[in-house]
Amino acid sequence: MGASSAAAHGRANLARDPGPNGREQVRLCLERLLSNADFVRDTCGDDAPQGLKLLYEDKALGFQILAHINDKARVSPPHDHGASWAIYGQATKYTDMIEWEREDDGADPSHAKLRPEKKYRLNPGQAGIYQDGKIHSIDYPDKSRFVRVTGTNLDRIARIRIDLKTGEVHQMTPQQAT
Ligand SMILES: [Fe+2]
Repeated sequence: MGASSAAAHGRANLARDPGPNGREQVRLCLERLLSNADFVRDTCGDDAPQGLKLLYEDKALGFQILAHINDKARVSPPHDHGASWAIYGQATKYTDMIEWEREDDGADPSHAKLRPEKKYRLNPGQAGIYQDGKIHSIDYPDKSRFVRVTGTNLDRIARIRIDLKTGEVHQMTPQQAT
């Protein structure tokens, strides 16, 4: 499966069911795309240009497929994607994924108390979902590269990140964290 047929499968599945079942089909589809060695080499290999590359944007449904061609290791702070879900599919190296649960009642918009709820590692060929509104963080080494499908263009929606030490909630600027 190549990127264009993965996009077509995604479109068909999300048009039929935009909820968790449709997203699960997209996750499986992303794993099939990442099992394509030619795609991984051409899009995410050592010679691929670094940075963020938009592979596909669906004008009708709004979802995006983005290749994150990372060079340097990074630990993101816990953050959400607002009302959007995200599916992360690993191409090279690995990404450690954490889902966080809020221990406070959300009454204070400027502070949050978090505890890790679920931790797992994505290895090449594996994809994982963060459902809409889920606070999450990622941690990856140098040259970790992944393909991410988001429910919508994240630049257009309000998102928050949380400082783990102080619990302070901050509004995020576009593409500040993945
Ligand atoms: Fe994220």
